[in-house]
Amino acid sequence: MHEMSRREMMRAFGLGGLGVAMAATLARGEDKGGTAMPVAKPQAFTLPPLPYKSLDPVIDDPTLALHHDKHHAAYVAGANKALDELAKAREAGDFALVKHWERDLAFNGSGCALHTLYWNSMWPGGRGQPAGALAEAIDQSFGSAAKMQAQFAAATKAVEGSGWGILVWEPSTTRLAVLQVEKHQNLTIWGAVPILVCDVWEHAYYLKYQNKRPDYVESWMKIIDWESAAARFGAAVK
Ligand SMILES: [Fe+2]
Repeated sequence: MHEMSRREMMRAFGLGGLGVAMAATLARGEDKGGTAMPVAKPQAFTLPPLPYKSLDPVIDDPTLALHHDKHHAAYVAGANKALDELAKAREAGDFALVKHWERDLAFNGSGCALHTLYWNSMWPGGRGQPAGALAEAIDQSFGSAAKMQAQFAAATKAVEGSGWGILVWEPSTTRLAVLQVEKHQNLTIWGAVPILVCDVWEHAYYLKYQNKRPDYVESWMKIIDWESAAARFGAAVK
């Protein structure tokens, strides 16, 4: 079996800095000989560069720039601040504000992970189609690619308030599922691995689509990066 390097796994997951821990875990999981593998050092959350310059006309350039440079960057700053404050609290043995900072870490850390996956779920004009093992899994879990995409779009349009539509691999039942996540961290399944992520916070579409979220989602479905999705799926089912 082809041994993926840590860098290849990080790229496949599209998780940037956050992918280090996941990739390291996967690397240890593949180490069936019992040899101790080096454990990655804890790193700060980072803002990865966009993998393309434009997604116009589906997503206008001002929205793309604001979304990445301001909103995603704010989640990175927020998650790192939460980590710093929790470290100070541990040093001081003073956890009076632990509830606040843990909530902040969950909110901003999840925002970091999902935005990185969101950038890697799209490609200008779309790229590829569901194929190979991913297409087979989609057929087994949903009946067909068309049925999966219909459920994905319907769930994403129906998110209450701010949130995400996410296609995940659910390892305990070995099936793909669609999640309708509120904010960044509510209504998930622990252990589920994100394969395809669509952001429906208003900052993702409001400049161009205003209150017409369904129009944004329908357009978004046409710029899916199925090649990147297939790489994440392949890593998830290994
Ligand atoms: Fe967003």
